[in-house]
Amino acid sequence: MLVLGIETSCDETATALYDSERGLLAHEVYSQIELHAEYGGVVPELASRDHIRKLTPLIRQVCEKAKLALTDVDGIAYTAGPGLLGALLVGTTLGRTLAFTLDKPAIAVHHMEGHLLAPMLDPNPPEFPFVALLVSGGHTQLVQVDGIGKYTLLGESVDDAAGEAFDKTAKLLKLPYPGGPALAELAKKGNPERFTFPRPMTDRPGLDFSFSGLKTFALYTQRENRDDEQTKADIAYAFEHAVVETLFIKCRRALEQTGLTTLVMAGGVSANQKLRARLDQLAKDKGYEVHYPQNEFCTDNAAMIAYAGCQRLMAGQHEGLEFYSKARWSLEDLPAISK
Ligand code: KG4
Ligand code: ZN
Repeated sequence: MLVLGIETSCDETATALYDSERGLLAHEVYSQIELHAEYGGVVPELASRDHIRKLTPLIRQVCEKAKLALTDVDGIAYTAGPGLLGALLVGTTLGRTLAFTLDKPAIAVHHMEGHLLAPMLDPNPPEFPFVALLVSGGHTQLVQVDGIGKYTLLGESVDDAAGEAFDKTAKLLKLPYPGGPALAELAKKGNPERFTFPRPMTDRPGLDFSFSGLKTFALYTQRENRDDEQTKADIAYAFEHAVVETLFIKCRRALEQTGLTTLVMAGGVSANQKLRARLDQLAKDKGYEVHYPQNEFCTDNAAMIAYAGCQRLMAGQHEGLEFYSKARWSLEDLPAISK
């Protein structure tokens, strides 16, 4: 089955062609980073308008790359949520219009399910069941995954997502948007001995997270010290270290609690090298397996959406005539597919 994937939930316009037999045939990502950089964050209305400009050419581009025509497609998968409503509506409207015109089934994909299944695009994919750590700009969640659509939320952030905390702290340090990668880069020059940040919510039972206090801690540390480059790097180091340690502690706890031995990490923050190294170490020490997506599939992309949609379409699911986009949407509300 050949599926066209469309992703427009935030500030990346992305398209992909995934085939159930031949794997990923082509994918394209256009990042709006430059458009939003001067505002220091995503401006929803500008994002929607840019998706309108870029989406059609990007669909054409994947077809050309894969040397296929749109009429070859067996189904269309588009991100229907969660995300920015106006941005989601662009992908939803075009996806559903194409499906209607081509008389092909369409499937609304949950953006976080896309992230969660992104490691399945790997030559060595994880096997169910596993614990997934979803760490993106909008979400920080630990999920028990027993199969596609069989999700149990184990814990999540009660305030800022990990990526959001990276971005806000980076902004405080006057780093360019998006802050995560820039902060991680600056942290390499930091002195590990200088500051120690707290590890929020690790001293009590449970698997929830809280990251907004770390940003405030960074703010006070900055105010109390000299405003020079070394101090910025030292704050970046201490912040990154605290986030990584907190995520590590909670992942270890989730694996112990569920008795599962496979951990999957996905979402933009899973590109973080320190986090990967820390979880690799955990796997080595305890005999666990850790999977994360290839770098290009960590941040937003349509390959993961086409993959997730393809699994659901192959299981016989598809949308009815009504259509919707959801700014908020719980993973636990998704129907399971039996395989
Ligand atoms: O999954 P994603 O592309 O978009 C959302 O669905 O939110 O994640 C973007 C987030 C941003 O907050 C970005 O700063 C963060 O992922 N990020 C990183 C790194 N690369 C991206 N955070 C820390 N270290 C990185 N290397
Ligand atoms: Zn995402």
